[in-house]
Amino acid sequence: MSIGEERLARRMARGVEFLGSKTAILCGAMSWVSERNLVSAISNAGGFGLIACGAMTPELLDAEIAGTKALTDQPFGVNLITMHPQLFDLIAVCAKHDVTHIVLAGGLPPAGSLDAIKGNGAKLICFAPALSLAKKLIRSGVDALVVEGMEAGGHIGPVSTSVLAQEILPEVAAQVPVFVAGGIGRGEAIAGYLDMGAAGVQLGTRFACATESIAHANFKKAFFRASARDAVASVQIDPRLPVIPVRALKNAGSELFTAKQREVAQALDEGTVAMAEAQLQIEHYWAGALRRAVIDGDVDNGSLMAGQSVGMVTREEPVADIIVQLMAEAAQALEKSAA
Ligand SMILES: Cc1cc2nc3c(=O)[nH]c(=O)nc-3n(C[C@H](O)[C@H](O)[C@H](O)COP(=O)(O)O)c2cc1C
Repeated sequence: MSIGEERLARRMARGVEFLGSKTAILCGAMSWVSERNLVSAISNAGGFGLIACGAMTPELLDAEIAGTKALTDQPFGVNLITMHPQLFDLIAVCAKHDVTHIVLAGGLPPAGSLDAIKGNGAKLICFAPALSLAKKLIRSGVDALVVEGMEAGGHIGPVSTSVLAQEILPEVAAQVPVFVAGGIGRGEAIAGYLDMGAAGVQLGTRFACATESIAHANFKKAFFRASARDAVASVQIDPRLPVIPVRALKNAGSELFTAKQREVAQALDEGTVAMAEAQLQIEHYWAGALRRAVIDGDVDNGSLMAGQSVGMVTREEPVADIIVQLMAEAAQALEKSAA
């Protein structure tokens, strides 16, 4: 083992112990993309895969977990969305399969969900979009945090990864493992966040077009062609309709979203929908649009959710090669810092 590799192993030790994987690199859940093939490939290659439950029914999640288990004997987790109407049934499905790690995305854990997850013996990981929320989540008993900046693909907050990492890591990294996400495309960045106290990292965009990803060839081609500046955040057009911004490659679908917002805002005006229903309609819109691009290959009208690191995704590569490369770059960066 080189000095750099030894340093990397030491810095990842806590994350590795928490996850039970060989490296502290998570592949963030990506709706439609993070299914059994990609998840098992990540875990088999020493990373930590996460099934994206999204809007799946409990029956579908049951089948997806079973299918993943058939493809890997390595640890993996499940990402559940807090506003899913059957959240507690989904938690029960995870318990049935002894899923060891659950990520709750989309807001603070709803009442009772933390106890249900931890009562089943699983570890709970939550997103911390600000320091105050990180502290609150730790107080409530969350086992680990993901700090995700606005460089990321998919739904995003307003603050960059570098600023969130500086604000949150020094304050809470001693208490729970913190995984940094958003805009990571190379190992040097991984080394940097580990040096700042992160237990590991989470990447999405870099893995979305791996050989094992079932994403449509058109979706992958769009990623290979794109540069960082093509991955733009959606714009809120009506101040009364707060929509969580989504980062995606700019295409005709971006305009369709503007039209969708207008339609929903008008329905709000006319009183034909309530605010909660209006926001749910927006979320359903995204799920459908992402499916159109990922599964059907409609890269014009579908949603090409991608982070700013998309410029570093240039060709289809097996997951194992990507992880080996990220680890080698991180080790080299740490080796250099010895001088
Ligand atoms: C195509 C795509 C779909 C995503 N879907 C989800 C999702 O369903 N749930 C979730 O928590 N995060 C989702 N994300 C975010 C990823 O899990 C991950 O945190 C993010 O991609 C990390 O930032 P990066 O893209 O800069 O690597 C998605 C990201 C992408 C690119």
